[in-house]
Amino acid sequence: MNITHISAECYPIAKVGGLADVVGALPKYQNTLGLKSSVIMPLYDNKFTQEHTFSTIYQSEVALGETAYDFSILELENSTLEFDVFFVDIKSLLFKDYVYSFDDTDRFLAFQIATLDWLLTLDTKPNIIHCHDHHTGLVPFMLQESYKYESLNKIPVITTIHNAQYQGGFGYDKLGFIPEFDLKNVGLLDWNNQINPLAAAIKCAWRVTTVSPSYMEELKQEANGLQDLLKAESQKCVGILNGIDAAVWNPEKDEYLISNFSEKNVNLGREKNKKWLCETFRLDPTKPLFAFIGRLVYEKGSDLLPEVFQNILKENNCSILLLGSGNKEVEAELNTLKEAHQGNYNAFIGYDEKLSHIIYGGADFLLMPSRVEPCGLNQMYSLRYGTIPIVRSTGGLKDTVVDIEKENGFGICHKEVTVAEIEHAIQRGITLYKDQEKFKEIRKNIMKIDHSWDASASEYIKLYKSIN
Ligand code: ADP
Ligand code: GLC
Repeated sequence: MNITHISAECYPIAKVGGLADVVGALPKYQNTLGLKSSVIMPLYDNKFTQEHTFSTIYQSEVALGETAYDFSILELENSTLEFDVFFVDIKSLLFKDYVYSFDDTDRFLAFQIATLDWLLTLDTKPNIIHCHDHHTGLVPFMLQESYKYESLNKIPVITTIHNAQYQGGFGYDKLGFIPEFDLKNVGLLDWNNQINPLAAAIKCAWRVTTVSPSYMEELKQEANGLQDLLKAESQKCVGILNGIDAAVWNPEKDEYLISNFSEKNVNLGREKNKKWLCETFRLDPTKPLFAFIGRLVYEKGSDLLPEVFQNILKENNCSILLLGSGNKEVEAELNTLKEAHQGNYNAFIGYDEKLSHIIYGGADFLLMPSRVEPCGLNQMYSLRYGTIPIVRSTGGLKDTVVDIEKENGFGICHKEVTVAEIEHAIQRGITLYKDQEKFKEIRKNIMKIDHSWDASASEYIKLYKSIN
């Protein structure tokens, strides 16, 4: 069975968040299970593309209204990835040093049209088209409705919602950019008098998945306006928990770590990573180290962190390290805290893949006070590396972290996203850290939890087979 994943991100080629990790791992696992899974994504101007060479396999042009853009489909040469990747190269639209920006409507529309134009020319068509998030949300609609793609409309198409907060809505002034279709079906594109790619995907995809079972249920209550649609389409919706790439995220082999370790030498290995973090960020290594890694956006609860940190740091009994970027005000507040709390607090505002790995390998606790967390990969990386997760029980966090007060519990969970509850959860971590025997036992045990893609990849295969 040939699967074509269509995505804006794919690790290690271009990553903004967890979408990249999923699209960079799922095809790999699917291939080991006997499928032929490949990815098609935009060609960006970034480190990966600068360091690799590509061959052109197709050239044509795509029109958005009056403007025509030349595009090429490229294939990666001498690939060491364990799946095929194809790129849509549109110099003036996609080939930028960023993944997302203000002009995403045109960029991703052109990407989707170019992708389908190319698929039309292939002798061997995919058996399943698997789309990810709103950037590819018009693919199911175009396959079903655009005259041009009629010969592809028997191919089952799946949309995975990684995050329903973002829907890619745009105005009807760009309706003409979508390859011609019967206008009486224009309602399929619509949500609240806008063209809404995510809504169109939910309506037109053969199946809709999201990245954890709990998030699927939550979406039927609150989906940034799409809850009623998800309720109405619930018979074709299913939540499949993401996995992690256990080869990339392996503390025994991870090249980013200062010191590699397994369950057997976890204490020593983690101590060395923590020492490096504390030296680099001038923190006290004798105190429990709490970390946050992530996008500084409202969904992640990061706006509350400056106040939480300020309150917690008054007591002087823990260290805090933050890695992230996003909201400029939150960034500024997090930076301001540095001076008053030197020695106990530091923040790296930016994106740093290596540092993130060392934090998973050296911090004692990882904070995820998310308001919305469709799946969350950070907590799964933490578990694999022996960092105890402190999470707000929502979405995928609810499905993967059990509170220490419960039977076989191993994490710290809180119900609401308030300064008081996050602080209380951190205090519980400080108390747990004082009981070093219990702390170390939990740390060792969580490393054994298997969240690799093995289980979930086969759930996707079952789903593909059910519609193929
Ligand atoms: P989301 O996709 O909503 O951002 P996930 O938990 O699914 O959340 O995935 C986030 C991914 O991005 C993880 O691999 C995490 O380590 C990484 N990440 C987030 N922010 C940073 C950062 N500032 N530097 C390095 N890695 C980051
Ligand atoms: C999204 C979600 C995150 C999820 C990731 C991968 O970015 O915010 O929770 O883990 O996609 O599916």
